Amino acid sequence: MTAPLISPSILSADFARLGEEVRAIDEAGCDWIHIDVMDGHYVPNITIGPDVVKALRPHTKKVFDVHLMISPVDAYLEAFAGAGADIITVHPEAGAHTHRTVQAIKGLGKQAGISLNPGTAVDELDYLIDDIDLVLVMSVNPGFGGQSFISSQLRKIEVIRKMIDATGRDIRLEVDGGVNPETARQCVAAGADVLVAGSATFKGGPGQYAANISALKGHG
Ligand code: DX5
Ligand code: ZN
Repeated sequence: MTAPLISPSILSADFARLGEEVRAIDEAGCDWIHIDVMDGHYVPNITIGPDVVKALRPHTKKVFDVHLMISPVDAYLEAFAGAGADIITVHPEAGAHTHRTVQAIKGLGKQAGISLNPGTAVDELDYLIDDIDLVLVMSVNPGFGGQSFISSQLRKIEVIRKMIDATGRDIRLEVDGGVNPETARQCVAAGADVLVAGSATFKGGPGQYAANISALKGHG
């Protein structure tokens, strides 16, 4: 099995030293950097805005995988694109016109992702999949790091893998929430190729990051 890409969620980093933390996971071998944006409205937590994304941009050349858990979202796309996001992922549950939102992200020259909550059915993707670059399966309810993996989402990953393969397009299948070396293996077996990991990447401090990332990739 091919090793998955690892996108550490900086939600579990030391917020007082974010630049250093981003450099440390970059050097430790992460593939992307996952940035969780929460608004205290769509989800019950408030995190990072575009100015923080902009401040982090000079610290790494790695892909900024920006996960927007905000509603409304359209008014903020330009700010996140300008701040240095490479992939912008949105929740269809958070807005009335997801197709328009996807077109807006593409119009800004960025890759577009759609995220599905644990209770959201895969048919949300039916009329969007031909236009998107990534599907993000939430394996916890969005809002907080450190929650437990919801195993029913493995079936959803399998179904989406088939949908993606049927398109013949290069669409990434990413999983977010409760990913540790054990659930990582299950996600990859179900067809995921990118894994978000907050707690499992940052646990033990900077000296552990490389070993943590390598364990998530299935090595050792
Ligand atoms: C939850 C976020 C996740 C979360 C992952 O709303 O989207 O990215 O921080 O954290 P862990 O890996 O600790 O479950
Ligand atoms: Zn996330």
